[in-house]
Amino acid sequence: MERHELFRLVRLVEAKDLCTAAHTWRVTLYMQALAEAMGIDPPAVKRLMRGAVLHDLGKIDIPAAVLRKPGRLTGAEWELIKQHPTFGYNRLVALGEDDPFVLNLVLSHHENFDGSGYPNGVAGEDIPLEAQLFSVIDAFDAMTSFRPYRKENDQASEDEVLEELLTDSGTRYAPQVVEKFVSLARDRNLKWIRKHFNDRISMNALITPESLEELDALASHHGRPVKDD
Ligand SMILES: [Fe+2]
Repeated sequence: MERHELFRLVRLVEAKDLCTAAHTWRVTLYMQALAEAMGIDPPAVKRLMRGAVLHDLGKIDIPAAVLRKPGRLTGAEWELIKQHPTFGYNRLVALGEDDPFVLNLVLSHHENFDGSGYPNGVAGEDIPLEAQLFSVIDAFDAMTSFRPYRKENDQASEDEVLEELLTDSGTRYAPQVVEKFVSLARDRNLKWIRKHFNDRISMNALITPESLEELDALASHHGRPVKDD
């Protein structure tokens, strides 16, 4: 798939589900940081970042009224939401996507380590590593960004979220991934990602990177160890 097509699709998701606008770019940069910290080689890091950009593509196929519904979802609506990984996977296959990193991440990003996730309820090492990585990142971002009672960029809040990840290690999340991500977040300053891609910024003002290279440039500029600050 051409890169401009990729970004066009992601913008469609953003337009439909405003919550994902800054989220997309944050999780992509967290993925880069985590994959690099795990020693994954640069071409594979790029592929993982591409999967992160596309993770919620299937939300295109969910009605906006359901995605943006302020109240409790009905059983039928929740069943529909649970199909978004499959919808995204099917769309990508139809578009000619053949990178297993991307397809696995999109299809399995809501699977839980204990088999309680969706859409297929796979467990443990049957969940592809790329999806195991993304599931921890997605949860970290949701917990550090979307709870109004949390103070953004507050270190204590981040510590609390990391503790929650550790609590759910082995049930929701793969233990070795949680261990890596928690030590990464404690050793390096990842706050710039939340600061730069902030949900309080209006859609119009939001910087939308034109390419993964632009994200790379941002990361190399900001992603310094905490002790060097
Ligand atoms: Fe999702």
